[in-house]
Amino acid sequence: MTNIEGPPRGTPSPEKEERGKYNPVDVLREREIDSGVFGVDRRGREVIKDKDFAYIASYLRKNIQEGSVLNLGGGFMHCHRILPAIDKITHATSIDISDMNNQVVREFLEGSVGLGTQTLIDASDVAVMRTYAEALSQDPRFAVGYEGKELLAMLYEKSRRHEGLDVITADVIAQMEELGSGALLKNRTFDNVLFLWSIFTRDRDETLHLMENVKKLLSEGGRIVIMDVWEYSGVEEDGDAMHSEDQVVARNYPKPWIWTTEEFIDILEEVGFRNIRTEEKVVEESEEEEDAIGGYICIVAEA
Ligand SMILES: C[S@@+](CC[C@H](N)C(=O)[O-])C[C@H]1O[C@@H](n2cnc3c(N)ncnc32)[C@H](O)[C@@H]1O
Repeated sequence: MTNIEGPPRGTPSPEKEERGKYNPVDVLREREIDSGVFGVDRRGREVIKDKDFAYIASYLRKNIQEGSVLNLGGGFMHCHRILPAIDKITHATSIDISDMNNQVVREFLEGSVGLGTQTLIDASDVAVMRTYAEALSQDPRFAVGYEGKELLAMLYEKSRRHEGLDVITADVIAQMEELGSGALLKNRTFDNVLFLWSIFTRDRDETLHLMENVKKLLSEGGRIVIMDVWEYSGVEEDGDAMHSEDQVVARNYPKPWIWTTEEFIDILEEVGFRNIRTEEKVVEESEEEEDAIGGYICIVAEA
């Protein structure tokens, strides 16, 4: 054996140290549990207490159309985002740059139906997901028409592909040409492509090219659904826990391009999207959040 000089024993490798800083489950718990997003009302029914979370869920239920879904930058809340529309969805695919986020998604998909082994999330996280599914089932605002456990079973079934789960680790910006050409997703097309707080392109040109490639992924009549914040200060290495990202994002996309609604509509029109509809919503639930992000811009457009 040659004598390779390495780090002293016990020193974590740079990758391990990097992974160690970001824990998606801590961020998730801070968002949903600490802020009391879900709970039980006076009549003992599960409910979504947080107004912003309920708004997001109902916007997605309303605007995701029947058919397949590709969630780009799906993140560790991919399951939470698509669950309100799962009865309309035929198949769901999520892509994220972060392996750890994707592991959380796989653990939720399996854990919610009592399968697999969970190492990042635990039984309490699965219990919160079940409460959420029950809340969707019982809340007349959603009119889902299925029991919570039926929704979770659909979520799992509709996320399976070739004996595995359709949760893919890829960089949608660096690999946008592969996405658009069909090389990354085996020439599949989708009825809905979602970008939920996940456009990290660095300038207008890059955003335009990303949208051109996304349009190629859409089936005839397919739609893009975008939700984002009004104000965004970029990804900081030591950002607050609530908005922190995997280090791979902080390293590669620390300062995304900040666009206005008009600028984005302009891009969508240039790329050839039609029937562009927008909706804006001020953050209701917490002043802290309102200060940090202002509100949401929601955009739906057809290919
Ligand atoms: C603010 S989070 C939003 C996550 C999720 N869409 C949601 O609704 O909660 C941004 C997500 O985009 C992912 N992301 C950032 N840049 C990306 C890229 N270039 N390719 C793929 N995913 C990316 C991050 O890893 C993270 O999961």
